[in-house]
Amino acid sequence: MDIKRESTVVQRSVEDLSQEDHTLIQYAGEAADRAYAPYSNFRVGAALELEDGTIVSGNNQENAAYPSGLCAERVAVFAAKANHPNTNINKLMIVVKTEKELKQGFTPPCGSCLQVLWDVQNRQQSYISIHIQASDGAVYSVQNVNQFLPFGFEL
Ligand code: THU
Repeated sequence: MDIKRESTVVQRSVEDLSQEDHTLIQYAGEAADRAYAPYSNFRVGAALELEDGTIVSGNNQENAAYPSGLCAERVAVFAAKANHPNTNINKLMIVVKTEKELKQGFTPPCGSCLQVLWDVQNRQQSYISIHIQASDGAVYSVQNVNQFLPFGFEL
């Protein structure tokens, strides 16, 4: 028997966003402005909303030894789990600031960040929704990490 899992990405225009989402976009955008990305000039900001309303943000941190850098999403998730180990993460908002033309229109988290998000979601036994603002202001959303990573690695 084949195992099949499908994804749904919902697109919303900026007018349809909640006040909560606007706040997260502001945090993620400000985090993107503080990114350290002199090599790629690709600035990413990530803002997490925890179950108690706390917002934790992160941005990409590059390094002269290129592979030693880290993506915005993992910086944010690790900061959240380091400082609020017992508080669930409900939402992730991503804002990208780049001159580049984005091929997909929006930029989902990379595979390594998805695995980290998948693992946290699995540990906390509640969904983390992911929202990405595209350059035209529209927001692309999935209800949970599985939509982008249907088969995560689990020990
Ligand atoms: N980057 C992120 O911060 N998040 C992603 O999901 C993909 C890529 C960063 C890593 C690097 O600093 C720059 O974007 C270009 O790859």
